[in-house]
Order: sequence, then structure tokens, then C-alpha cells
Amino acid sequence: LSELATVIVRINGKEVRVPRGTTVAAAVFAAGETCRTSVSNHPRAPLCGMGICFECRMIVAGRTHTRTCQILCEPDMEISTDFER
Ligand code: FES
Repeated sequence: LSELATVIVRINGKEVRVPRGTTVAAAVFAAGETCRTSVSNHPRAPLCGMGICFECRMIVAGRTHTRTCQILCEPDMEISTDFER
């Protein structure tokens, strides 16, 4: 894909290039990461992909987002999966 068709985000500090229009949750999943760790220390991942389950909550640009499956990646976006650790 050309640079115009992609954006670079940072997931836990690592640069990842994704197609423009990719959701934050999809970018994290494609990068092989899980969204967060539960209070019982289990990895959690997107479940519904349509904003209902809140399993995809993460920290995006320094703010907690409960439905990252509904947020599109933007250039230089900082994404952290360190939500409940
Ligand atoms: S995956 Fe269910 S709310 Fe995002």
C-alpha cells in the first residue's frame, strides 16, 4: 500500500503501519497484541467489533477509550494496551 493509503501508529511504543480506515482495535489485533489484561491477569481481545462488549478498551492518545473498535487510527496515534495492569 502507498503511504497515502496507510497511517503509522505506535502500539506500546512500537511503530505499526496500517491501511487508512483501520480501527484501533483491528490495528492492535493485527499487530499480534491483546487489548488489555483483565483484573484476573488474563489477556482480553475484541469480541463484538461493533461497540457493545467494551472488551476492546485501551488507552489512546493518553485517554481511556472503552470502544476502540469504533475509533479509526490517525497518524502518530499513541495506543497503549496497559489498561488494567
Ligand atoms: S470489540 Fe466489543 S466494544 Fe469493541
